[in-house]
Amino acid sequence: RAEVQAKSLALSEVMTKAGEYYKQQLRHAPPAIAYLKKRGLTGEIAARFALGFAPDAWDSLRSVYPDYAAPELVEAGLVIDKSDEEGAGRKRYDRFRDRVMFPIRNTKGQIIGFGGRIMEQGEPKYLNSPETPLFQKGFELYGLFEARQAIRDAGYVLVTEGYMDVVALAQMGFPQAVATLGTACTPTHVQKLLRQTDHVIFSFDGDAAGRRAARRALEACLPHANDDKFIKFLFLPPEHDPDSYIREFGADAFEQQVRDAMPLSQFFMREVIGVNDLNSAEGRAKTQFDAKPLLQAMQASGLRLQIVRNLAQQTMTAPAEIEALFELSQPVAR
Ligand code: CTP
Ligand code: MN
Ligand code: MN
Ligand code: MN
Ligand code: MN
Repeated sequence: RAEVQAKSLALSEVMTKAGEYYKQQLRHAPPAIAYLKKRGLTGEIAARFALGFAPDAWDSLRSVYPDYAAPELVEAGLVIDKSDEEGAGRKRYDRFRDRVMFPIRNTKGQIIGFGGRIMEQGEPKYLNSPETPLFQKGFELYGLFEARQAIRDAGYVLVTEGYMDVVALAQMGFPQAVATLGTACTPTHVQKLLRQTDHVIFSFDGDAAGRRAARRALEACLPHANDDKFIKFLFLPPEHDPDSYIREFGADAFEQQVRDAMPLSQFFMREVIGVNDLNSAEGRAKTQFDAKPLLQAMQASGLRLQIVRNLAQQTMTAPAEIEALFELSQPVAR
């Protein structure tokens, strides 16, 4: 265990140094500064998120780490080893080149990974650190370190998909935002969020991928949803994400979206009804069928009871029949 700790410490130092270097490089990169300005960001926000720039070179990290051959650089995900064609040796190069860099920090503020955005068109648009001993994607939320106090002040957290959503929302007066970084929102993410606040608002992109992400988030929330949690879903027009929406319509319009966000119970019903026809026995049965695994994932709670009652009413069934049919756990007697 001491060995693992020493290793993590070494990796953590490597990441800190890289973050400092990329941040420093941004000052000497007018095109990167122009890119951030074009996206509406000020120097203050860039500093708050410690944004940086990875130069357009294969081995710029050599100037940071004199021992560019050190194994920690690969373990940290900062360089990539590739066998050369002759097999005579290994070629090593920087993972991040010519990209605007977003450091991902843990709740202690230590850099554990990076996302790098290409400034022109090109693939991939974002390049992320691989999973390392420091960085597990299903666990970390981009921006949580920066947002913690703001989440307390606002009384809620906004959960978005991307780096730019978090940074743009902070720029526009919503510093209480974090991002799941393209991966699905996991139950671990939800637990982590609910340790910070009792009020979570998911605000994914309006496109089909964003709507799928909202469905996944609903499923991730169900085991943790109960009577003193407020979980909501904000649905933007299909062509927008939080960044583009707040830029186009402004902070007041976004605030209105936050106020109008759909409570979990309502999203739940919308999802299970789907395209089912509640005027037919088959449609009502199918709705119950689709609701069953979701209700089974919930703890016995007043909220679950409310959803059961609503479902019962809509599907012309008695609540007790639904509870029996679904074999729902009963509250523990006190
Ligand atoms: N993502 C990624 N790799 C990609 C595309 C996306 O890791 N090739 C992740 C990033 O974390 C990104 C998030 O998924 O922030 C959402 O993707 P997308 O909506 O496509 O990007 P935006 O965040 O909207 O980025 P931008 O506004 O800069 O285009
Ligand atoms: Mn609250
Ligand atoms: Mn998207
Ligand atoms: Mn997006
Ligand atoms: Mn975007």
